[in-house]
Amino acid sequence: MKKIVVLVSGGGTNLQALLDAEARGEIPNGKITCVIASKPGVYALERAKKHGVPTRVLERKAYDNVHAYSIAMRDLLLEEEADLVIYAGFMTILDEAVCDAFPYRMINIHPALIPSFCGKGYYGLHVHEAALAKGVKVTGATVHFVTSECDGGPIILQQAVAVKNGDTPEILQRRVMEEAEWKLLPKAAALFCNDQIEIIDGLAVVKE
Ligand code: GAR
Repeated sequence: MKKIVVLVSGGGTNLQALLDAEARGEIPNGKITCVIASKPGVYALERAKKHGVPTRVLERKAYDNVHAYSIAMRDLLLEEEADLVIYAGFMTILDEAVCDAFPYRMINIHPALIPSFCGKGYYGLHVHEAALAKGVKVTGATVHFVTSECDGGPIILQQAVAVKNGDTPEILQRRVMEEAEWKLLPKAAALFCNDQIEIIDGLAVVKE
């Protein structure tokens, strides 16, 4: 059974999708053993507690810089003996101190079809604002491995979602979550825990 540690910064609907999938038996070889938040008081922590999952808070603002925070996060993840680390709406970019300690063992959900609308500054609602400003007709979500390049790691799963006339960033965000994110992230977790993802020539290959 692989130990899954989930990193969160906000409302935690993606965490909820993971907790629900685990409860339905859809992640048979994985168990969510800890949820770590980058700030106290976020609703994601309540969701974890309701499911009896231990929580920890590692406050970003308690550290002077990203590197110091990354080292502290690495040590916490090692202490938790994480086999898989899932960024589920985790809004801090961690540096190579973490990425090098967990190569191809950390995955992130991004609310667009990478390589569109990704990288520094593209997070949360901003991603959907940018998609609407560009007038794209299709957007979606991507699950990828985390490397020290922001949103640049090997792509594991993607799901397209239609953009509709009259969409606001909030409406589009909700549709991308419902039709893509909440399905893709648990599926990627299950694939990882079943050893169904292989890295070949720097790309992620899913063995169905
Ligand atoms: C989700 O849409 C997630 O894809 C996005 O933030 C939202 C968090 O919602 N993540 C990023 O933009 C990361 N770059 P949640 O807290 O309800 O899961």
